[in-house]
Amino acid sequence: MEPRSASPLEKSTVLTLESRTGDAAALLERRERHLAAVQEHYFADPPVIERGWRHHLFDTDARPYLDMVNNVAAVGHAHPRIADAVARQLNLLNTNSRFNYASIVEFSERLAALLPDPLDTVFLVNSGTEAVDLALRLSWAWSGRRDVLAVREAYHGWSDAADAVSTSVADNPQALETRPAWVHTLDAPNAYRGRYRGADAHRYAADAVAAIERMRAEGAPPATFIAEPFYGNAGGMPLPDGYLQAVYPAVRRAAGLCIADEVQVGYGRLGEFFWGFEQQGVVPDIVTVAKAMGNGHPLGAVITTREIADHYRSQGYFFSSAGGSPVSSVVGLTVLDILADDRLQENARVVGAHLKAQLEGLAEKHELIGAVHGLGLYLGVELVRDRTTKEPAPRETAMICDRMRELGVIVQPTSDRQCVLKIKPPLTLSRAGADYFVDTLDAVLTHGW
Ligand SMILES: Cc1ncc(COP(=O)(O)O)c(C=O)c1O
Repeated sequence: MEPRSASPLEKSTVLTLESRTGDAAALLERRERHLAAVQEHYFADPPVIERGWRHHLFDTDARPYLDMVNNVAAVGHAHPRIADAVARQLNLLNTNSRFNYASIVEFSERLAALLPDPLDTVFLVNSGTEAVDLALRLSWAWSGRRDVLAVREAYHGWSDAADAVSTSVADNPQALETRPAWVHTLDAPNAYRGRYRGADAHRYAADAVAAIERMRAEGAPPATFIAEPFYGNAGGMPLPDGYLQAVYPAVRRAAGLCIADEVQVGYGRLGEFFWGFEQQGVVPDIVTVAKAMGNGHPLGAVITTREIADHYRSQGYFFSSAGGSPVSSVVGLTVLDILADDRLQENARVVGAHLKAQLEGLAEKHELIGAVHGLGLYLGVELVRDRTTKEPAPRETAMICDRMRELGVIVQPTSDRQCVLKIKPPLTLSRAGADYFVDTLDAVLTHGW
């Protein structure tokens, strides 16, 4: 059916036939006509998703799905407290951070209180990419140098600077060949399938320290070292024990700063730890946060020391039109309240441990499961064709995700080899939801995909 009005402005407010009846193919065709194709979508034939509730999604045929991918909706989809808080604030005021209003102050205080000393100074932005970009600029302003050290197989965002330090070939097949000269990379410290495995994994740290020393000797010491403190992009793997405890001091000996990218793994998801860096027993110089902190509302933050933040002055002043707006700050505060009141970090710890144990049980039954990685509700099930050679099984992983979707579970592949089922559901996931996921995966692995 044609929209009722010929005016493009009115068109956008008219519900189309596809969105009312859920004609998924027709909606997809329209999407492809005007939305950039590189802004990709899940699944070849995606259902039309109309609403969410806690860790469930519903399509326009009222079909429910268990949502195992939406880490951004950390406190659950459609949380009424967030909806109410946003509506109230939009009816009151939404402006920019140059005005003096309480919510930005309270939110900054709450964020600073979540971090150890001396991380007490907050910048508010709109995304993880912006947070990473700003963190890199802070380290450049601080050190007066440009060289950056990053671990391979990582993703940090899409802006020029954040993309430059993103080395995952799953996100960009040319990632390794197209790094600018100021980006230096370290081995992905993957204890399952990297250069050093199992008990040898401690050697990644020694190699990293040697690389930093080499950069110093060559007169180009790193201005900064950036890494996820828990390896999200590899499928939720802990870094080898002691890795950051060796690398951070070496970077600081070179007068560089250490950035912990907590965009994916921080904010309670690991259950036992609120921040990924706690698992490594270190304190970074700069922390980047986004995703969960806004529960889908565009919100990101950089938290650092007063001294590092003040060095930004050499670049001018800092302003982001919507960063830390009254609405964004209220969303951020409400998410923190819900995390505490609904005890979601604790839920991640308990349900995550149960889910991991169940998945490890499945691994005993199905040869295709090479390993179960992760902690809390950041888990990865790595699928291999051969447990000895660890040959990745990306085709099988993709087909399993499609079959799981048919059976009512949304799960997606990750890692440079696209052979890891990434498990990062809303932190509301219940024990029953975890069991449903395991039973469905068991059925698919048993009966085929
Ligand atoms: C570790 C990490 N850093 C940064 C980003 C970029 O965040 P955003 O998509 O909010 O720009 C992502 C996004 O996936 C991420 O996983």
